[in-house]
Amino acid sequence: MNETLIVYGTRYGATPEACAVIQKILEKDYKIQVEIWDLENYRACPDLEEFDNIILASGIENGKWTKNSEKFLTKDLTGKKVAVFISSSFAGEKELYNHAFKNFLEDVISEYSEVNFVAKAAFGGRVPKKKLPKIASQALLTRLPEFQIDNRDWDKIKEWAHEIGKIFTAD
Ligand SMILES: Cc1cc2nc3c(=O)[nH]c(=O)nc-3n(C[C@H](O)[C@H](O)[C@H](O)COP(=O)(O)O)c2cc1C
Repeated sequence: MNETLIVYGTRYGATPEACAVIQKILEKDYKIQVEIWDLENYRACPDLEEFDNIILASGIENGKWTKNSEKFLTKDLTGKKVAVFISSSFAGEKELYNHAFKNFLEDVISEYSEVNFVAKAAFGGRVPKKKLPKIASQALLTRLPEFQIDNRDWDKIKEWAHEIGKIFTAD
């Protein structure tokens, strides 16, 4: 059995697009069976017993994961390889990457020392056009010379999928 469950929390749909790219690579290049689940529907989430590997992903808003993606970390993940990533516009900007990685990712998962995190990543994000004024007013962003509405780096996401594929298929 080498089955992987990808679970994600999203507010605006950017995170599942990254999940879909990762899913494709795992299935095609590593022959891993992948199921994908939107944590909006938390209660009906598939039984974790069936999966060796989990990929947990969340979009970030005002520095926070979605409620259900953070809640997912409280599940019993014993014996599983867990990879985690965030979709965060700050992480897509060179000047703010370290801030995003530490504050939005490491600080959150560090509270779950019993979980076997085998890989972690902070990717850029995509802001819906109509929400741009809201995020652009955040103090950290006003310092940037130019802020891209979609600063996801697909090569970086694909590279990470291969990294995970190797980890998930290793003995
Ligand atoms: C109101 C608002 C607040 C946001 N706050 C942050 C933030 O604090 N840090 C960050 O990195 N990105 C922030 N973002 C950008 C999102 O992280 C980015 O759009 C992400 O890709 C969203 O993922 P989702 O579409 O899956 O929800 C914000 C976006 C909006 C619309």
